[in-house]
Amino acid sequence: MCGIIAYVGDKKASPILLNGLQRLEYRGYDSAGIAVMNGKLDVIKKKGKVGDLKKIVDRLRPEGNTGIGHTRWATHGAPNDINAHPHCSSDGKIALVHNGIIENCDTLREALKNLGHRFKSETDTEVLVHLINEYKTRYKIPLEKSLRMALKRVVGAYAIVVMDLDEPNVLVAARKASPLVIGLGKKEFFAASDATPLIEHTKEVVYLQDEEVAVLQPGKPLAIKSFQNKPQKPDIVELDMEIEELEKGGFPHFMLKEIHQQPDTIADCMRGRLNAEEGWTRLGGMEPFKERMANASRLIITGCGTSWHAGLIGEYLIEDLARIPVEVEYASELRYRNPIIKPNDVVIALSQSGETADTLAALQHAKEKGALIYGIVNVVGSSIARITDAGSYIHAGPEIGVASTKAFTAQLTLLSLLAMQLGTTKGVLHNEYYLRLMKELSEIPNKVRNILAKEAGIKEIAGHIKDSTNALYLGRGYNFPVALEGALKLKEISYIHAEGYPAAEMKHGPIALIDENMPVIVLATNLSAYDKIVSNVQEVKARKGTVISIVTEGDKKIKALSDYSIEIPKTIEPLTPLLSVVPLQLLSYHIAVMRGCDVDQPRNLAKSVTVE
Ligand code: G6P
Repeated sequence: MCGIIAYVGDKKASPILLNGLQRLEYRGYDSAGIAVMNGKLDVIKKKGKVGDLKKIVDRLRPEGNTGIGHTRWATHGAPNDINAHPHCSSDGKIALVHNGIIENCDTLREALKNLGHRFKSETDTEVLVHLINEYKTRYKIPLEKSLRMALKRVVGAYAIVVMDLDEPNVLVAARKASPLVIGLGKKEFFAASDATPLIEHTKEVVYLQDEEVAVLQPGKPLAIKSFQNKPQKPDIVELDMEIEELEKGGFPHFMLKEIHQQPDTIADCMRGRLNAEEGWTRLGGMEPFKERMANASRLIITGCGTSWHAGLIGEYLIEDLARIPVEVEYASELRYRNPIIKPNDVVIALSQSGETADTLAALQHAKEKGALIYGIVNVVGSSIARITDAGSYIHAGPEIGVASTKAFTAQLTLLSLLAMQLGTTKGVLHNEYYLRLMKELSEIPNKVRNILAKEAGIKEIAGHIKDSTNALYLGRGYNFPVALEGALKLKEISYIHAEGYPAAEMKHGPIALIDENMPVIVLATNLSAYDKIVSNVQEVKARKGTVISIVTEGDKKIKALSDYSIEIPKTIEPLTPLLSVVPLQLLSYHIAVMRGCDVDQPRNLAKSVTVE
């Protein structure tokens, strides 16, 4: 949600900023802007994508070796040129970019207007730059001190980078509850919302901590202080990421690349954690907390969006394999509904980005209640990874398409391992079944490959239903959350209204919607509820709905009843979601492409939602 990039060094800033913004565009893409310092401030801002901004920057070619850039996902004020960042002080000397939300912006704006500051935009961000300038000019103090003083009056979440014409070749950055990474080059510094724009320049980074301010000045060491002005020792981390991971690699979209990466990402998630031949599984992050987790009075799984769907499957897995009570909560609800959380509860957070504001807030709350917090996160070093007591990375690599795909299946892989570990620790998972699960899990990557090979057939089915305005996804048991995820994928990228339902619930409402215009995607692989699914399909057909079924290889009954079918390889029931979701991802992808939608950057969405 909003991406920040900043550069100070001996190179021309604008190409570095634009390139960085392109890498960060998945975080928000309704407007973008840069400010470059060169004896004066050149500020260029534009509604639309980074590509629109680039056309203007290429024409104007702003000079200067110090600059800041921003790609926006609007919170306060419509997406337009004026509300785009950077924002400047009334005297035109200070420019600032911000990711987050300033909650007390109305009060601050009124106070600053009364002091003579002239506001141009409707954004919450603009108050920051005027407030900093107020302290700077009133007390005649340097930028860094003005920023620290200003932040004392600010309530909210922010990552900020600011520069001042009176202090050339200096950038000052600060963060509270929104991410900011500082890149260390040779006589140059970078700052960005995540490491993706930095990797082509440097592998040495420092993740700024909450309530820290950093002064980036080439020729001087990186200076970090707490908001209380106490010097902090920078913790320099080596990035473990390659530039190829950030490219499309020959695919037309990141989403398609990421769908096709799944055999590898699932295998990567299992690497060193499962050996079916030797018969063991291991989650390093869980090891010291295994007993506590297995003996917890209950586990609460929390997350948002696709991660929440993975959490629902986690509930089925853990209750099934480890017999521990599990509750799954939307992070936004868990945080604000005054839940009962006790010290012997364990809260498991699922998050691809590790930065989702609602999930972070929920964890903070659970932490205050004394529960153990376990993170299942993709982005290494992210905020959630840092505030949890323990956790496991899913190792899916950078996920850039806004609609989550490979992170979902990696989350399911990790949750399967976690459930198996809990089951054996508790002594409720019998050895024979444990060995079977291991064997089946290790075969999943090849089975996903087998489904991906059916893409042409799935694309053809997409062509038959691409003009629908509604779709219904039905599944039972382990496949019910997959139905929710399939519907979400379709909504997100093709803008077709879709709903996921437990198949049996159809007769309590959605059946009223079924007619010849309604495609019904039925997940019909569950062996235990097969006959019941057959009845559900018959009910849909009796009302002239178009049935697209996902069936197990060799199926006859449901295939015969369906208009279209996609076969997936057989696996053990708890692992079915790892396979059944893949055709749904491909179906949504091809429908969205056929409808001419922007698959990687769907309207109104952002990959990393850093506002509550
Ligand atoms: C956004 C993204 C989704 C994602 C959700 C949770 O809505 O568009 O793809 O599932 O946030 O994000 P997280 O990073 O916490 O998994």
